Amino acid sequence: MVRRKQIYEGKAKILFEGPEPGTIVQYFKDDATAFNNQKKGTITGKGVLNNRITEYLFQKLGEIGVPTHFIRRLNMREQLVREVEIIPIEVVIRNIAAGSISKRFAIPEGTQLPRSIVEYYYKNDALGDPLVSEEHVTAFGWATIQELDEILSLSLRVNDYLSGLFLGIGLKLVDFKLEFGRVQHENGEVQIILADEISPDNCRLWDTKTNEKMDKDRFRRDMGGVEEAYQEVARRLGIMPEGGPRDMPGPATMQ
Ligand SMILES: Nc1ncnc2c1ncn2[C@@H]1O[C@H](COP(=O)(O)OP(=O)(O)OP(=O)(O)O)[C@@H](O)[C@H]1O
Ligand SMILES: [Mg+2]
Repeated sequence: MVRRKQIYEGKAKILFEGPEPGTIVQYFKDDATAFNNQKKGTITGKGVLNNRITEYLFQKLGEIGVPTHFIRRLNMREQLVREVEIIPIEVVIRNIAAGSISKRFAIPEGTQLPRSIVEYYYKNDALGDPLVSEEHVTAFGWATIQELDEILSLSLRVNDYLSGLFLGIGLKLVDFKLEFGRVQHENGEVQIILADEISPDNCRLWDTKTNEKMDKDRFRRDMGGVEEAYQEVARRLGIMPEGGPRDMPGPATMQ
C-alpha cells in the first residue's frame, strides 16, 4: 500500500500530497456532518459515489470551458487534482428557496426564486461560516474585485449548465455550493479555477415529478434512504460504479 503525506483532514475528504509538485490527492470519506459539525454520521458508500459524481460533473464542466482542478480519478475513492490556493468563500447559488434562505426570509421551501441568487459565505467553522457581502470579500482581501467578477460569472455558467444537465435526468437543481481557488501559471498569470467537489453533499436535488429530496437533506433531517438517494443520483447520471459503491478499504496515512 502506498504511504504518503497527509496534508489536511476535513469533514468529508482527506487531502494527500500528490505524485508531482502542485498536485494533491482528494480521498472521499463516508463521513457526513451537518449544521456546522453538530450532527455527525456516516453514509455507507458516499465517498465512492461523490468521487465518481464529482469526476463526471467536473469533466463535463471542463468540456464547456469552465476551468477546474480535476486531473484524473485514481481509484474508487481518490482523485488527483491541481493544488490551488483556496479562496475562503463558499459560493452558494440558489434557484428555488430551501434551507437557510427559506428561514431567513420566511419563504416556503420549494418557492421558485425570481431569479438565481448568488450568496457568499466566509469559510470559517469557528464563526459558523457567516453570510457576507461582496464588500466584505473585497475589503477583507479574500478576493479582488476582478477575481470576484470571475467567480460570479463562472458560478452562473456552472448553474446554467448543471441545471440543464440535472433537468435532463429528472432532477431540479434547487441550490448548490462551489469553492474556487487560485493557480499560478508559468508566465506568472493567476487564474481562478473551480475546486473542491460537486455532489449530493453540497447540492439540493429534488425529483422533478415527486419533489423527493435526493441529497444530504435526507441525512440532515433524518429522513432515511440516504445511501439510496446518492446511488439514485449516480444511477440517473449513468455512472453507478460496477459492483456497487463500497469496495475499497480506508486510506493508509503517514503523519
Ligand atoms: N484543489 C485544491 N487545493 C487545495 N485545497 C483544496 C482543493 N480542493 C479543495 N480543497 C480544500 O480541501 C478541503 C476538503 O476537505 P473537506 O471538504 O472535508 O473540508 P471541510 O471539512 O468541508 O472543511 P473546510 O471548512 O475547510 O471546507 C477543503 O478545505 C477545501 O477547501
Ligand atoms: Mg468541504
